[in-house]
Amino acid sequence: MDKKFEGIYSNGKKLFTQNLVCGAKVYGEKLVVDAGTEYREWNPFKSKYCAAIANGLKTNIFGKDSVVLYLGSAEGTTVSHVSDLVGSKGVIFCVDLSEIAMQKLNALAKIRENIFPILSDAQKIDNYSEYLDEGVDVLFQDVSQRNQTEIFLKNAVFLKKGSFGALSLKTKSISQSKGKKQILEEETAKLEDVFTIEQIVNLEPFEKEHYLILVRKK
Ligand SMILES: C[S@@+](CC[C@H](N)C(=O)[O-])C[C@H]1O[C@@H](n2cnc3c(N)ncnc32)[C@H](O)[C@@H]1O
Repeated sequence: MDKKFEGIYSNGKKLFTQNLVCGAKVYGEKLVVDAGTEYREWNPFKSKYCAAIANGLKTNIFGKDSVVLYLGSAEGTTVSHVSDLVGSKGVIFCVDLSEIAMQKLNALAKIRENIFPILSDAQKIDNYSEYLDEGVDVLFQDVSQRNQTEIFLKNAVFLKKGSFGALSLKTKSISQSKGKKQILEEETAKLEDVFTIEQIVNLEPFEKEHYLILVRKK
């Protein structure tokens, strides 16, 4: 395995994270042992962050021991890889409004102790601000809502100054009539008061009409 970033590996074809819970799969992914270490295959068709890495993301925002606020965690597919990356001393506060998804995430949190599920609409930040009063090192968002940029900006209040965030932008959820490039420009402009834009990664062919916008809080 070649190291791509801290905690993220490649065998030349596929991406992997080192399994924090040896022997345990989360969503049917392949487990691979190399030189005595177990890795979990990371599928770019199932994870927008993985798609961004496959498409040339220059910075891995999830470090060892990071405190992460993850909006739109769903059942925890990507969260499980973030869990590998932040390790047993990191924590991922996972917000999702789907009760069904949250049931699966709660089960995952029993196996992976760095996952902290929160059933809430990410627009209602007062529902979970009590957990985040010391601030977070990373803000990640993957919710397909018309006002996804506004949700991200609202939650930026928790992100420490100088820290990284990433917004997975689904342009089709914002407008069906405007072109994806125009939507990207308009949404990026909204972020510029609060963030420096570090990189924009087109997620095709893994995800149609999606971009990952990597930002740093001013
Ligand atoms: C595309 S899925 C996320 C997939 C996940 N990030 C992954 O890679 O494994 C989007 C999720 O956002 C959640 N969602 C949509 N609007 C939301 C909101 N306003 N607040 C919290 N979660 C929301 C949905 O319930 C859904 O689970």
